[in-house]
Amino acid sequence: LDNGVARTPPMGWNSWNSFGCNISESLIRQMADAIVSSGLRDLGYQYVVVDDCWFNPSRDSAGNLQGDPSRFPSGMQALGDYLHGKGLKFGLYQVPVDKTCAQYFGSYPGATGSQGHEAQDARQFAAWGVDYLKYDWCSPNGTINDQVATFAKMRDALAATGRPIVYSINPNSIHAKTGPQRNWGDVANLWRTTEDITNAWDTGQTNGYPMGIQNIVNVTVPLAGYAAPGRFNDPDMLEVGRGGMTDTEMRSHFALWAVMASPLIAGNDIRSMSSATQAILKNQDLIAVNQDSLGLQAMQVSNDGTRRVLAKRLANGDVAVALFNQGSATTTISTTAAAVGKTGTSFTLRDAWTGATSTTSGAITASVPGHGTVVYRVSGGGTGTTPTAFVSAASGRCLD
Ligand code: GLA
Repeated sequence: LDNGVARTPPMGWNSWNSFGCNISESLIRQMADAIVSSGLRDLGYQYVVVDDCWFNPSRDSAGNLQGDPSRFPSGMQALGDYLHGKGLKFGLYQVPVDKTCAQYFGSYPGATGSQGHEAQDARQFAAWGVDYLKYDWCSPNGTINDQVATFAKMRDALAATGRPIVYSINPNSIHAKTGPQRNWGDVANLWRTTEDITNAWDTGQTNGYPMGIQNIVNVTVPLAGYAAPGRFNDPDMLEVGRGGMTDTEMRSHFALWAVMASPLIAGNDIRSMSSATQAILKNQDLIAVNQDSLGLQAMQVSNDGTRRVLAKRLANGDVAVALFNQGSATTTISTTAAAVGKTGTSFTLRDAWTGATSTTSGAITASVPGHGTVVYRVSGGGTGTTPTAFVSAASGRCLD
């Protein structure tokens, strides 16, 4: 969506993965403080997104949404002001249908979705200083066409406010179950590609609930052609630092999200991060790959079921190459500079995890632990014939 924002994948934090409905203004403020003091803000993690359950279960007499006064006693605008005062940006959750997901599943009262209130709610969000709207279709009803029309309604309502607001949609309950069928880039900046993520490596799902890391990668890699500045596939929020996976798996998760040009929205408790978690979320080589101005998502170079190679072209002509071991035993994964679109006979490889550099005349190879991902930034040589996949990705329009 060409609305001036999300020219690179948004980075930030969202309350849902760690806190669900147990949120309050003091929690969000503490998290904002921790995002600043941990150094995450200065690495690009700016959007603080308050997910489901922030609102009063009924609208006011004029039909306006209100924050839950017991959890957000200072009000939503004050929270936005607090975040802005910290150099952060303010995100909120809402739905295009009648009930939010928590309301739909009965864990929160009311039916306060934006259906029929789109313009009013968009104006309210803008007045509160909202910079990011997560708009989540949590309902089994409708068709893809209904979704396009309904999501477009809020897109237009947000545009009419004049405030730049990242528009993140989740066509979840229809789209995810039927397989990604549409390029949503004309509707939103970000669109979820699967059902909800969980903190597990592999839940055996093709696209059901809940999705492990490997399962989400399987769905999202083939959608690379849809990504471009202002429009990115959203394989859901990060589970880094939430347990349930080994450090190798969490590093892999982050590396794969980085090369997939995915939003990097942390979901862990930032107030109590281990040093291993910090080292992952703060990896500057991977953040640079993710935030590259070309906005390309890594294309698949090869996949034999165990050894998967992805390559993301970068603005300066370098290529980030991910060597992803989907098996559980250590294995050697190899590709070549030519296969990732480079010409020449002399290249430098920089390992994004260790910072070590090496030179090669073309072979790109690493011993990769089970479920691990080695990422090399390949520089030197020239840019060869652009693989077709990169061309369609750069145009941001393809496949449908
Ligand atoms: C859906 C979304 C989640 C989260 C919850 C909130 O499941 O996919 O990311 O927003 O709703 O209820």
